[in-house]
Amino acid sequence: MASPLPPSPVGVHVRAPAKINLALKVGAPRPDGYHPLATVYHAVSLYDDVHAEWAEPDEFELAVSGEGVEDVPVDDTNLALRAARLLARVHGGQDRLGVRLTIRKAIPVAAGLAGGSADGAAALLACATLWDIDLAPEVLRHLGAELGSDVPFALLGGTAVGGGRGEDVAPALARGSYHWVLAFGHQGLSTPEVYRRFDQLVPDPTPPEVPPDLMNALRGGDPYELGAALTNDLQPAALTLRPALRRVLDTGLELGAVGAVVSGSGPTCAFLVEDEEDAVDLVVALSAEGIARKVLRATGPVVGARVVG
Ligand code: C5P
Repeated sequence: MASPLPPSPVGVHVRAPAKINLALKVGAPRPDGYHPLATVYHAVSLYDDVHAEWAEPDEFELAVSGEGVEDVPVDDTNLALRAARLLARVHGGQDRLGVRLTIRKAIPVAAGLAGGSADGAAALLACATLWDIDLAPEVLRHLGAELGSDVPFALLGGTAVGGGRGEDVAPALARGSYHWVLAFGHQGLSTPEVYRRFDQLVPDPTPPEVPPDLMNALRGGDPYELGAALTNDLQPAALTLRPALRRVLDTGLELGAVGAVVSGSGPTCAFLVEDEEDAVDLVVALSAEGIARKVLRATGPVVGARVVG
């Protein structure tokens, strides 16, 4: 439970990673509208930073800067603010808590990289630390699931299998560190819209299962095997909504990537390469093509949301 700590002048700083989906298998919509998933999440070294400071009781404030800031809502729909309010309500005891949150974004908005979920996860952990609310990781993840399907994974990090609507996560048996090149789209994609398009394209999907070849590749730690096993059921839907992504994927493969996949609901394209040198080369070559808004490299897996500094 919350203890009446004196306000900390410094506050708490939490860093949370972006995710890509190495596999994303999607079933038919459930009665609640969500789709059952069998996915393999992979946290990569692209981070949003959330800083939390004490505020007056019942005061919940938010300031955002960085990548795509003009598209980030700063009202009560923001996942970081919702996370703070949820934690205060459920685990704040009798204390009237408040927080001033500052988000510095590097993960683009509506990109299929779970940037909003990273912010929600980071805010949960930052507020729990600031308010001295001691929760087991699985309790925090359970709370995260109320905020969004990808929030529990943003807390867990690493490489993990996701079931349910994505919120039910367990670490995967995975070996090795992988080098990725991420190509950001010029315009975001709406996740609900991509799922709706999936429903139109695949009216009768089979129940989702994690692909065994992908799990084998992860156990072996070989980038070539992993590259060949990358798969995303939402990719055709994302490609019909953004046909230009086909060229981005093809170009990355022609330029030497060992695998290419749209991440989550897109539009970010993730390219797997053999090593760091190839990643540097692919960033330069893809950037020169002028077909992506921004191209950068990342490694994975990395840990989930953590207090830093
Ligand atoms: O869980 P989250 O709020 O991140 O989901 C955003 C939207 O994505 C949902 O409202 C839903 O339209 C879609 N979604 C889905 N099935 C999932 C996850 C998300 O249909 N498993």
